[in-house]
Amino acid sequence: MKALIRKLTESYGPSGREAELRQIVRAEIKGQCDYITEDALGNLIGVVKAKAKTGRRIMLAAHMDEIGLIISHIDERGFARVAPVGGIFPMNCVGSRVRFASGRPGVIGLEEREDKKRAPALSDLYVDVGAADRESCPVRVGDMAVFDRPYAEAGSRLIAKAMDDRIGVAILIETMRRLKRTPHEVQFTFTVQEEVGVRGARTAAFHLEPEVAVAVDITTTGDTPRCPPMAVSLGKGPAVKVRDRGMIADPRVVEWMTSAAAAQHIPHQLEVLEFGSTDASIIQVSRAGVPAGCLSVPCRYAHSPSEMVDMSDVDQSVKLLLAMLQGPVSF
Ligand code: CO
Ligand code: ZN
Repeated sequence: MKALIRKLTESYGPSGREAELRQIVRAEIKGQCDYITEDALGNLIGVVKAKAKTGRRIMLAAHMDEIGLIISHIDERGFARVAPVGGIFPMNCVGSRVRFASGRPGVIGLEEREDKKRAPALSDLYVDVGAADRESCPVRVGDMAVFDRPYAEAGSRLIAKAMDDRIGVAILIETMRRLKRTPHEVQFTFTVQEEVGVRGARTAAFHLEPEVAVAVDITTTGDTPRCPPMAVSLGKGPAVKVRDRGMIADPRVVEWMTSAAAAQHIPHQLEVLEFGSTDASIIQVSRAGVPAGCLSVPCRYAHSPSEMVDMSDVDQSVKLLLAMLQGPVSF
């Protein structure tokens, strides 16, 4: 599974440019489900058909896209100015290396500022792709870049860019592979454009009409020096979302998740997140409403070039999903 996580995190896929991911995921799930479909926005869906009349239609969602930068202007000396694709923190950008779809690398530079105490804004930054001037610049307005960092392991911790949410994508793929028996129809949905406003999940949920939905995504932690207090730590098991900025998880889904975890002795945590949301927020309000929840993988340094998760949380997340899918859904 680590090889898969490496492949997924090192791939290029900012919001709206998920083709490379779609190709990788499609190859990974081929033969592991009953059929694969794709919609107009680019969501990729692998469906395991229901094996029993008592089965429900369960949508699982993980987003393929990652945060990035989009070129808005190139000056006469060939330096590119950028706008954010998703939640970019300028602090995390300075000195970073980025990569465009063509493979062209770039360095993010910081302009001289009068007030050096002020945190840098995105407008203080530029991308240097090694061009001499605007005419010979190998990138153009509208091109998107992602952070360029290799995957690395530090003991049980895995570090990579785009762990948000390629770790969720990896968990869904692994769950599909190991799902031997389920009474349910399971709609493994690899969504697009989550980071720019949960857009892919919106059309996917409309199309799939799930009866229950669970997103698999990352959440931040409260276990690093002087961070805002939060009852989630790395290595203590998957977090069952209770609430975030975009949704209040359906208590029946929370109960389904926590009781499946308890029955299988899977360590888990409860999550209340102050900022951010997931695909589950939009699936929940799709059509006439869908009971929805979220399984969150604890992740430090979210939306930075070096997002960190713990392998045991990843393993336990797969186990929890399998436990949930193998039993009946009682609501
Ligand atoms: Co994110
Ligand atoms: Zn995410």
